[in-house]
Amino acid sequence: MAQDTIEARNQGSFPMDDPTQGLEQDHRYMKQLMQRYLSTRDQQVKQQAGPEICTALELHSALEESVFYPRVQEVDTALVDHCLDEHQEADQLVRQLRSLDPGTPDYDDLLQQLHDAVMAHIQEEESQLFPAVRDSSLDLRELALQMQAFEANMVSTQAMRSQSNLRPDQMH
Ligand SMILES: [Fe+2]
Repeated sequence: MAQDTIEARNQGSFPMDDPTQGLEQDHRYMKQLMQRYLSTRDQQVKQQAGPEICTALELHSALEESVFYPRVQEVDTALVDHCLDEHQEADQLVRQLRSLDPGTPDYDDLLQQLHDAVMAHIQEEESQLFPAVRDSSLDLRELALQMQAFEANMVSTQAMRSQSNLRPDQMH
């Protein structure tokens, strides 16, 4: 069966007048990746989708925790604290997934748990936090620029790291 193409947002491209739209695009991407994993019995698809899900979540969490949450905290402190707690729960699940093999029953169970936790979290962000941010007096353009800069930096750091992780025989 042909796989549907799932496209991630181009990294570093945020709608300048509303950075929450960029985060919503990431949410859609993660949702599709998790559905791809959960809806297949094809081990090869699982082997590929599992690590992709972990990486997408790690990057997205880092962006929200390092730039977005600190800047929007003043809009609703309790809500942002609650979102951070949910991130910790998801981060914990991702760490466990990283130590297991995709396609095993334990991995499948954990991924289902992660899916349920992330979907509930996304729903809260999109129905409560993001609208509050859009209605606030925060400078959304400045926020978008900061998120873009953080993401560009994160992507180049990651590229350097994966380069230095290569064994000599893998280098060209
Ligand atoms: Fe989040």
